[in-house]
Amino acid sequence: MVRLESKLLFKRAASIDLHLHLDGAITSDIARKLAVLQHIDLPTENEEELKELLTVSEECRDLNEFLECFSLPLKLLQTTAGIREAVRLVSERLSKQGLVYAEIRFAPQLHTERGLTQEDAVHAALEGLKETDLHVNLILCCMRGGEEHKNMETVNLAEKYLVTDGGVVAVDLAGAEGLFPTKDYERLFLKAREAKIPFTIHAGEAAGAESVRDAIAFGASRIGHGVRIIESEEVMNLVKEKGIYLEMCPTSNLQTHAVESLSDYPLLTYMEEGIRVTVNTDDPGIEGTNLTREFSLLEEKGLTGTQEKKLLENAIEAAFTSEEVKKELRKELLATD
Ligand code: ADE
Ligand code: ZN
Repeated sequence: MVRLESKLLFKRAASIDLHLHLDGAITSDIARKLAVLQHIDLPTENEEELKELLTVSEECRDLNEFLECFSLPLKLLQTTAGIREAVRLVSERLSKQGLVYAEIRFAPQLHTERGLTQEDAVHAALEGLKETDLHVNLILCCMRGGEEHKNMETVNLAEKYLVTDGGVVAVDLAGAEGLFPTKDYERLFLKAREAKIPFTIHAGEAAGAESVRDAIAFGASRIGHGVRIIESEEVMNLVKEKGIYLEMCPTSNLQTHAVESLSDYPLLTYMEEGIRVTVNTDDPGIEGTNLTREFSLLEEKGLTGTQEKKLLENAIEAAFTSEEVKKELRKELLATD
């Protein structure tokens, strides 16, 4: 009986993903469809080989190596048709998995290798949104190590297209945190703050808690990962006091060695400390995961049905969307208590 209740809550908990990269969500079946659509030859016709090329290897040592896996998916995302169709296909896949709301993020500057402008890439993704039944919003990523003018262009585009729901709702900073520290992006997020663009920042993943402290000082209301704040009681208190939401992604963190084992995974500790945590996939294609699997991993570590419900409540509150939409999500997902 208890188990059944837990299963039910668990299923419903796995219904919102706030941290998912478009290029990281390209599975082998989606890659094939994008290749056919754009007349691109994939490096192999063999399904197993293709899967191997698209997913991270067990030998992956860190985030830098993990990020090398994105070159093939990105080759398939360099035309308006490719980006539009990818948004549609990824959303369709999420919908089939039982998600009811998702925020898909991508870095427009990574989609300009074949002549698109950043704005073309944003337009294409917005077109893709129109073709899906799933409730999806977009987050535009700036890139660590990207040229400053390109990152500024991304923030300017976010300002131009910003809506409270149904399109671009926020910006982010992604990429190699271990090589390009958060503190170097102060100007960028000053601009985002002046433009009143909500933002999240990948931090406390390949770098330590000080990276999260910097991101919060810039004005981030959410942190991508934040898994390493466990290294600093002071930053844990800061995250708690400011009500910052952590977008945690267990499989990703294991694969990039942000944490070494699931038994070291600090999510339950954070929840017990009153830190606002959400569970997400990050790069389901690259990692070979989905949201249900992420919750299963945490269940194995002792996550209870009550905690799953809390995670879902947190995801609704953390979402970069309007209060009206949150009200609908609460009604739909939390009603049957
Ligand atoms: N881009 C895609 N996945 C990422 C991650 N885990 N960290 C930083 N940038 C990313
Ligand atoms: Zn990410």
